[in-house]
Amino acid sequence: MSSTSLAPLRGSLSVGGDKSITHRAILLASIADGKSIIRGENKGIDCLRTLRCMQQLGVPSFVDSQGLVIEGRGLRGLHPVLGSASGVRLDCGNSGTTARLLCGILAGQCFPAFLFGDRSLSLRPMERIARPLRQMGASIVGQSDPVTLPLQIAGGALHSISYRSQVASAQVKSTVLFASLYAEGESRYTEPFPSRDHSERMLEQMGASICRQESPRGAYTLTMEGTDRLSPLDLTIPGDFSTAAYLIAAALLIPDSALVLRRVGVNPGRTGFLDALRQMGADIRTEPVFCSSPEPQADLYIRYRPLRGINVGGSLIPRMIDELPIFAVLACAAEGISRIRDAKELRYKESDRIQALLSGISALGIKARALPDGLEIEGAGELLHRANRTRGILPSCIDTRGDHRIAMAFSVLSLLYQEPLPLSDVSCVSISAPEFFPLLKKLLASC
Ligand code: S3P
Repeated sequence: MSSTSLAPLRGSLSVGGDKSITHRAILLASIADGKSIIRGENKGIDCLRTLRCMQQLGVPSFVDSQGLVIEGRGLRGLHPVLGSASGVRLDCGNSGTTARLLCGILAGQCFPAFLFGDRSLSLRPMERIARPLRQMGASIVGQSDPVTLPLQIAGGALHSISYRSQVASAQVKSTVLFASLYAEGESRYTEPFPSRDHSERMLEQMGASICRQESPRGAYTLTMEGTDRLSPLDLTIPGDFSTAAYLIAAALLIPDSALVLRRVGVNPGRTGFLDALRQMGADIRTEPVFCSSPEPQADLYIRYRPLRGINVGGSLIPRMIDELPIFAVLACAAEGISRIRDAKELRYKESDRIQALLSGISALGIKARALPDGLEIEGAGELLHRANRTRGILPSCIDTRGDHRIAMAFSVLSLLYQEPLPLSDVSCVSISAPEFFPLLKKLLASC
């Protein structure tokens, strides 16, 4: 996808439902007591994986006029529909959220399960969830040490835990929280900085009582008791902020653009990208939208303005972790140097995103260098716009590494070029945002 002109992007759009919230809604509705209704769910492949896994664990679901209906089986009512001696085989595809959060629930079940995924997922670290789950009493056996997929998990009688994670990861936090539902007594979990709190909000909506504390140094601690039941959900899922971020960036790259994005989720654990953009000089207004959901929503109004380079690091990083690829793209077009620090986690995503970004950016002749925990980019500013209007020399191929966010990031940068950037694979975008290219096409068509 690319444009051959720099006509301003103008319009008003809605992105698809939030992926993180959809995963949690499917998983928690499956172990609730009774029927949940979920509206506006994310339609990407990752969330479908989660839904299929829960179907294999005996949870009926269907779509009707109200939305996605999930007939929860209760905390201890899951049962494999088909299985072998080694347990039910669950295909998590490319989805780290499916694999990790599902382990939190499987750790509480009294049947074994075998989890596997694609090549990318099989390389991603699972030790971070295996360690606390083992401490709670689950058995997790992988083919390597530290653990990666495929893995075998057997659970049952869990006990509570007091656990301090080295990384600010919502996936690790959610895995431990989900397992803690099954444990006797009170569990405590601390992370170095707060990560997105969708799991906490949803569990509270379902009747769990969670106590949250933040230390003066920014560490975040949760305590939660085990429980016997969760109430079903009646939930409307807001637009996915991470998908919105890539469209916001498109408007910030193309002069005179003005874009409105409706009903986007603006959970503060997700909107670090907006804070960074405002520091870069962006003109973005958020207007809260009233809703009964525990997740805040807003309409976002974005107007083009030239950006300046900035440094991002520390507690901002978990709040914009999935937006760092598109931040890097904007840094290429900003005036001055930008640095991403404290973001070693980027190496463990669907690809090593530091390497993927560095090689793509460098191939375009923009100066960048990898840092052990991030990236430094020398923004080409106005030069990038001018050079590309007169046709820059394009690389033979930019490798998206089958990573949806890398593919979206370079597809947005491609809008600045006369010729489409040659990207190795963009079909992977349907992992999180099947609506992304149709929305971009609609915007370009209305120019
Ligand atoms: C997610 C948390 C983040 C994020 C991922 C989705 C979630 O991962 O990068 O895309 O839904 O909890 P980490 O928890 O590994 O940082």
